[in-house]
Amino acid sequence: MCGIFGYVTSDEENLGPILIEAAKRLTYRGYDSVGAATLNNGKVDLRKDVGKVEDVSAKYNFAEMRGSRGITQLRWATFGEPSQINAQPHIDSDGDLVGAHNGNVVNNVELRQQFIDEGMTVRSQNDGETCVHGVERYLNRGYEFIDAIRLAYGDLQGDYAFVIGRANDDKLYAFKKGSGMVVGIGDGFTCVSSDLPSILPLTRKIVRPQDGEIVTLWSDRVEVRSVKDGRVIERKPEFVTESMDAVQKGGYPHFMLKEIHEQPQVARELLHLLDGSPEVENLVEKMKKARHLYFVACGTSYHAALIGSVYFAQIAGRPAIPVLAPQFIAQYAPAVGYEDVGVFVSQSGETKDVLNALEAAEKRGMASYGLANVIGSTLTKATSFCLPLCCGYEISVPATKTFTNQVITFLYLAYRMAGRDTRELEKIPELMEATMDATSSQVESIAKDINQWNDMYCLGYGATFPIALEGALKLKEITYAHCEGMLSTEFKHGPLSAVSKGFPIIFVAGPNDVPLIISGVNEVKVRGARTIVIAEDDPRLRANADDVIALPKSDANISPLLGVLPLQMLSYHMSVMRGFDPDFPRNLSKTLTVD
Ligand code: G6P
Repeated sequence: MCGIFGYVTSDEENLGPILIEAAKRLTYRGYDSVGAATLNNGKVDLRKDVGKVEDVSAKYNFAEMRGSRGITQLRWATFGEPSQINAQPHIDSDGDLVGAHNGNVVNNVELRQQFIDEGMTVRSQNDGETCVHGVERYLNRGYEFIDAIRLAYGDLQGDYAFVIGRANDDKLYAFKKGSGMVVGIGDGFTCVSSDLPSILPLTRKIVRPQDGEIVTLWSDRVEVRSVKDGRVIERKPEFVTESMDAVQKGGYPHFMLKEIHEQPQVARELLHLLDGSPEVENLVEKMKKARHLYFVACGTSYHAALIGSVYFAQIAGRPAIPVLAPQFIAQYAPAVGYEDVGVFVSQSGETKDVLNALEAAEKRGMASYGLANVIGSTLTKATSFCLPLCCGYEISVPATKTFTNQVITFLYLAYRMAGRDTRELEKIPELMEATMDATSSQVESIAKDINQWNDMYCLGYGATFPIALEGALKLKEITYAHCEGMLSTEFKHGPLSAVSKGFPIIFVAGPNDVPLIISGVNEVKVRGARTIVIAEDDPRLRANADDVIALPKSDANISPLLGVLPLQMLSYHMSVMRGFDPDFPRNLSKTLTVD
């Protein structure tokens, strides 16, 4: 996830060290490139490149940068590969405006083309540059700065926060849509950032701008105006008292819990991005024409591939073969050819097993596409193109938000394959929020009840089967207990013999599978099992199961996606109750670059 920081003071001073420190405090968000710009007396000094803050700032000597205003940005690539030209901040055509953003401008491609057609100098593929030209366009037409921003705001679609300044001026301007932004007011300076950690060591007096507001920052004051009518909005500053560690984790005790709660927002951003992506159409056309379709992945990403294949068959009538990456090599590689399409799924984009499978596929001429969270990773470079998962940095080892965004991407692609209206999916983020609100405290109390067990099952059927596998994997990863995920109907073919009094069995049920799940529940209940069902509320389930974790009403495609949220929470609570650190489980690594 990119991060921005802007700083305004009254006179020219050595801002380099302040910008370097602020950039370092943004690093926990994840990044691939770093840049800094200072503005003073009509001049912009801009330095940026791919790499770590320490390396880029040393190579380009950020420490010597002087000005009365400064901007620094850490980039996490989405639009345009990680490169010096795509790194931020960006300047306008004649170089007197400089700005940087975080988030995604989803109509970036269209706007870039418009700016080129209008004669502006567009240097990169990056949507941060698009924000700069978005303002430049209206300044060129003679508008005042605030009005130029108001008009640009209407053109820039997506979720982002943006800071911009003009060389010959004494202010910075900032505005946001969908993404977070915080303004700090200090002694003789003001600052603005994507989040609090970069501001807190400087000042604890802050203002939180809302969507649709423009903030003007002078060295001694800030002013908030409405995008709608340009009028000044009164906003009293607040004082932050939380510790730095708590702030970095967004007030949550662990990154995993923070990332679980980020899921609705990143889902919203992903859906916007997919709507605006020309690459989606390209991929859909390729997949429609393919002889065979393969979804190749490992671990959690494989579970997303599995549910993807359910969606493709059920929604688009298109069979797709989900396969664990090493098994792709052993089983399918000799049989694939140029008529086939492979979608390689990996949050890190670095999993060696997946890269090996990709290499084997490409040797056979198979068309290969990617789905990854880390743009600039090996997978994104090695495939024809790679759709971004748009989750920002996922710090905790157990994947949560990257999994749900993989699932949503597959669901979206299945809709597009079927020619269905993807606006039906816009309700997903609110449903995720409702699921978390409705189930959190119940899940915590069930976690207490079953925590003494070191052996359990998680069962699903159809689209909930991959969710059961994912729930079982989460439990294994961070509680160190054994939890087996299985097709619910298979349980009677063997594992039934393991059931004893109180033995926990979790069922994830789709809205159309209730009768089948009721038989499964009774089969194990009569043998003493403690049955926990995650499903849309249904009196038939309540009459049969020990516990029903009720999901909000949706449909047979969305309900399984909601079902994974209580499973993530259950694993989290059990891990914490056992005294483990869910963010960094023993023996596991976030990125597995070995065979
Ligand atoms: C490792 C991680 C898992 C992850 C798997 C695939 O084993 O511990 O959490 O699901 O790799 O990772 P990827 O980055 O390819 O999605």
